[in-house]
Amino acid sequence: MTSILGISAFYHDSAAALIIDGKIISAAQEERFSRKKHDPRYPYNAVQFVLNYSNLKLSEIDHIVFFEKPFLKFERLLETYLAFAPKGFASFSMSMPIWLREKLFQKKFLFDQLKRHDKNFKDINKINFSEHHYSHAASAFYPSPFKEAIILTLDGVGEWATTTVAVGRENRITMLKEIHFPHSIGLLYSAFTYYIGFKVNSGEYKVMGLAPYGLPKYKDLILKEIIDLKDDGSFRLNMKYFNYATGLTMTNKKFSKLFGEKVRDPDKELLTQFHMDIAASIQAVTEEIVIRLTTSISKETQIKNLCMAGGVALNCVANGKILKKNIFDDIWLQPAAGDAGGSLGAALAFWYQELGNKRKVPKNGDEMKGSYLGPSFNEDEIKNTLDNLGAKYEKQNEENLIITIANELKKEKTIGWFQGRMEFGPRALGARSIIADPRSDKMQKELNLKVKFRESFRPFAPSVLAEEVSDWFDLNTDSPYMLLVANVKKNIQIPMNERDQKLFGIEKLNIKRSSIPAVTHIDYSARIQTVHQETNQRYHKLLKKFKEITGCPLLVNTSFNVRGEPIVCSIEDSFRCFMGTNLDILVCENFILYKEKQNKDLLQDYKNKFELD
Ligand SMILES: [Fe+2]
Repeated sequence: MTSILGISAFYHDSAAALIIDGKIISAAQEERFSRKKHDPRYPYNAVQFVLNYSNLKLSEIDHIVFFEKPFLKFERLLETYLAFAPKGFASFSMSMPIWLREKLFQKKFLFDQLKRHDKNFKDINKINFSEHHYSHAASAFYPSPFKEAIILTLDGVGEWATTTVAVGRENRITMLKEIHFPHSIGLLYSAFTYYIGFKVNSGEYKVMGLAPYGLPKYKDLILKEIIDLKDDGSFRLNMKYFNYATGLTMTNKKFSKLFGEKVRDPDKELLTQFHMDIAASIQAVTEEIVIRLTTSISKETQIKNLCMAGGVALNCVANGKILKKNIFDDIWLQPAAGDAGGSLGAALAFWYQELGNKRKVPKNGDEMKGSYLGPSFNEDEIKNTLDNLGAKYEKQNEENLIITIANELKKEKTIGWFQGRMEFGPRALGARSIIADPRSDKMQKELNLKVKFRESFRPFAPSVLAEEVSDWFDLNTDSPYMLLVANVKKNIQIPMNERDQKLFGIEKLNIKRSSIPAVTHIDYSARIQTVHQETNQRYHKLLKKFKEITGCPLLVNTSFNVRGEPIVCSIEDSFRCFMGTNLDILVCENFILYKEKQNKDLLQDYKNKFELD
């Protein structure tokens, strides 16, 4: 038995992953345990979790792989460079060789952290280093269902690369080309995120959500002035418009002058049509880059499968566009596409590339187990915790539970759904989710304002029975990780239940897009999660039951947290969030908690508890 621990840390979103004999066993982000969003510190809790999960001590682990090469120093250098750009660039380049030599010091630092888990851990030579983009590429290819694929990684910045193209074959990954810092789609997108007045590294999602409200009026201007985009998708940024100087400003005065408005102050200025048009424009440019890149590499290599990872791979609108272009037969996206997934990639890269182990391509689906790789809790643990918290609950068997919850959903109740192992990656996929009826007119606003405490324009995503996805959306493929966007079908025919069939004398009811307003974006698109019986049986059952009573095989699925809070991990977290928001019901495995039955003294002021994101 060979166990490999992968770690990513010290940039943003620290995480740990464990693989045994090449099989993915567990993985989690540190933020879920520390309750600090995007926690970049050494992932002590996440490492401890993956060890406990397999009953292993750190000294029993065979190899430990860090997701990138020299880390702490690099970040400092990067920050120095950013602080003094453009003057700092020369000194930054010159310091590279010294920085590489200091690798040993960083190894020692990591070694000291690791020893905190187990004082018997003595072998520093078990620690290895992968490369940032190599870790991303490995996380995208090795768990994928492909024997051969193009691997595209896109993010802000790793060591030097910001964009890489590689080919994966069997157990090997070969890098073909790279685009280097400071030329980066991730940083470009972040610069516009900053300009619109959202927080860099977390507000990118909002820009994507805002884009459909605007028109890409500035796309041509961006392509003319800010980015030199070649036909093959390679690009260079015009650094004259960027000013990463203090870390507080991404763009400079020239940038503002080019578009005609100052950087929006989120505390004083509302979002206007201008910001929506800017969002639409940078989104359109990003899509253009990604389409050109993927088209040219597919032509060059003649390979028909695509895998993606890196922060930009979370741009599900762009992913949906690639899919629609039909350049590839199939696309697979790593659910933990950001730096957290680098922990898993680093471990897998070591197993295949370094140890040379053979790779078996999975026959059905992928190797991610639905991304349900985090902690779970058994009945005794849940009961004890709920008792200690003073919660009032009832317990039901699975069948009754499914019937009860499906009916409550139909009554427009909002429900915290806590089941099985926590998801790895930024999306909630029905293990730590808030779920609701997508047919409800009031649901989007209500969930945003009363439950999530966030902007009312933020769209929600649907979970849909995998076998019914193409009846409702222009999508003919699986999207288990909510990383693809497609349009809601214009006219949906809903098969009616038996009673209604008799009543109306027809078998199918024709309804319009507006039948699922809570998950339909303003441009009729939706970010889709297909739910599969093989990976999440209970959630699949719930959707089936909901369909049985309403004709609708979909639910609203949003992450179980409020604005600024990491997704809930434990029973305590979920109870706190339940008592601090207007959620109506909490379901933890077979335990059901109704808000109106809880002790009022336990209600929490939760709205301002977390830093705004
Ligand atoms: Fe990255």
